[in-house]
Amino acid sequence: MKKLLVLPGDGIGPEIVAEAMKVIDHLKAAGGLELEIEQGLVGGSAYDAAGTPLPDATLEKARAADAILLGAVGGPKWEPLEIALRPEKGLLGLRSGLGLFANLRPAILYPQLAEASSLKPEVVAGLDIMIVRELTGGIYFGQPRGVRELDNGEREGFNTLVYAESEIRRIARVAFDIAAKRAGRVCSVDKANVLECTELWREVVTAEAASRPDIELSHMYVDNAAMQLVRAPKQFDVIVTTNMFGDILSDEAAMLTGSIGMLPSASLNEQGQGMYEPIHGSAPDIAGQNIANPLATILSVAMMLRFSLDRSDLADTIEAAVGRVLDQGLRTADIMQDGKRRVGTAEMGDAVVAAL
Ligand code: NAI
Ligand code: MG
Repeated sequence: MKKLLVLPGDGIGPEIVAEAMKVIDHLKAAGGLELEIEQGLVGGSAYDAAGTPLPDATLEKARAADAILLGAVGGPKWEPLEIALRPEKGLLGLRSGLGLFANLRPAILYPQLAEASSLKPEVVAGLDIMIVRELTGGIYFGQPRGVRELDNGEREGFNTLVYAESEIRRIARVAFDIAAKRAGRVCSVDKANVLECTELWREVVTAEAASRPDIELSHMYVDNAAMQLVRAPKQFDVIVTTNMFGDILSDEAAMLTGSIGMLPSASLNEQGQGMYEPIHGSAPDIAGQNIANPLATILSVAMMLRFSLDRSDLADTIEAAVGRVLDQGLRTADIMQDGKRRVGTAEMGDAVVAAL
């Protein structure tokens, strides 16, 4: 039986994860989903209970799981701590400990929410992009790095952009496999005109595509990609790119949708294990008030069913249920519109279960 590790985390984390668990429990009872579920500690709440944001027990349970569902970590309470003990270290430790090299960041704008975007509805309505970001390499991890003093006494900061061919090849494959189940178009984003490392990136991605007649590959420089995302975002199907470019472009794409409470994410390793979480943080400003939007976490469950649990059928079902709830006019505060019915966190979760 497949194993799921649930890590509610901090702030609104426990509230939104509770709603996602209602969906999972319903699918276990009525959808033929077989799943063994464990709970664990991560982030600031783990620090409070165990003195570290990532207890060994959590990492062990994570290694044994097929999928991890994470709420969010962090909050002002833990900001005075030194960096190594901060809640965010829990997340980074899970990513590196499990080798989660492929970060999947969909930017989807439900037609019912087209007015939430700062762009014109006709430019973004129905937007459905998947950004595949390399997550464990590139300039965020490359050596050497640091700040050094020059002979003249001035200081110099430096980081290194480095990718091995094997790292490029495996992220390209993830993007191609995902695109094959979508429109089949992959745009690889680089800066091959300036950076040798991404010249290699372009070469390796192109070579990898040669054996994939099902994929239509294009290339774009990152500065142009940033422009195209706000000019005509619907031209993209799947974007594959480096860690840093993906960090920036995925946040840009997310904001095109104008609804941070609606977007899920996945981080996968070579064994198909995955960590699933909403893109937003722990929202301490609204924690404990039953107003957070649980849909990003519920949609993260859909991604989990599709990418780690071999149940794409149930993933489709959840996504359709979310669409129906929006059609019914139910809205949490963050996506509230005139004439719609405002509901709280728990009511939204119940509505999705009812729609299922
Ligand atoms: P945030 O994403 O937590 O919140 C930004 C704004 O969006 C806030 O006004 C918040 O109320 C709102 N918001 C976020 N999620 C929402 C939801 N589901 N429904 C309705 N409104 C929602 O980002 P912020 O404020 O920069 O960070 C807060 C804490 O979260 C910090 O400690 C930060 O380090 C941490 N963080 C954790 C992440 C993670 O666990 N993956 C990612 C980003 C931030
Ligand atoms: Mg970011």
